[in-house]
Amino acid sequence: MLFKKNTLPDTEGRLRSVGIIMDGNGRWAKRRGLPRLAGHAAGAARVEEVLTTLRELGVHHVTLYAFSTENWKRPKEEVDGIMDLVYKYLDEVVQDKIVSDGHFSVRFAGDISVLPEKLRKKCEEIEALGKNREYICYVALNYGGRDEIVRAANRAIADGVTVLDEKTLSKYTYTAESPDPDLLIRTGGDMRISNFLLWQCAYSELYFTKTLWPDFDRKQVITAVESFLTRKRRFGGLNKEDT
Ligand code: IPE
Ligand code: IPE
Ligand code: MG
Repeated sequence: MLFKKNTLPDTEGRLRSVGIIMDGNGRWAKRRGLPRLAGHAAGAARVEEVLTTLRELGVHHVTLYAFSTENWKRPKEEVDGIMDLVYKYLDEVVQDKIVSDGHFSVRFAGDISVLPEKLRKKCEEIEALGKNREYICYVALNYGGRDEIVRAANRAIADGVTVLDEKTLSKYTYTAESPDPDLLIRTGGDMRISNFLLWQCAYSELYFTKTLWPDFDRKQVITAVESFLTRKRRFGGLNKEDT
């Protein structure tokens, strides 16, 4: 291992929650003359290392963008291939090494009801396994930020809520069990949010890197976190040094 635990930066409890837009799998494959699905497989293989590193850094909540409500626009072959890979990764790695070992409970953000039956059942099985409420990893699957806000409002209305406020709406979002991300990471070089956590990222620190997701390793996680630790967060107010 390149970095020993004691060389990790001290996040002093400032970094509780992280969101990640795992982008760049297709380009990673293309650069190697491989099919796009080989890039998705290489991307899936990165998840465990990134989660382990974040946990060591004191992060308790992670939200991973795996498939957006817009990603259905891709060729059927790629969509089907991604669904198969997600199933395989959940079954072989998430269930055995991440949830069963108690590292993170896994929940799903997004409408999983329309996913292939076998995958939907696996998602439900994994959610039921996760008793650890201290460390939660949301996998955003068939997730869209706008879709989430509309659904949250409709769910509140269905519950008889007549006047919505911010706290109430938050309770109806998919990620209600986790605090808003302190840090939002996007790999792959594009500087946009692509409909991810629109509600929750109101005050998140943004970190964009050109590194493609399958190359985003432990060292890169630490670099992103070091960048976060240099940020001065104000939440619209002023810090002591500003006055
Ligand atoms: C992100 O990688 C994974 C998904 C969107 C499912 P991409 O497939 O978007 O990779 P690029 O952006 O084309 O390189
Ligand atoms: C965002 O990446 C979605 C995921 C990483 C799952 P996209 O590749 O879909 O984003 P755009 O299309 O470049 O905005
Ligand atoms: Mg992309």
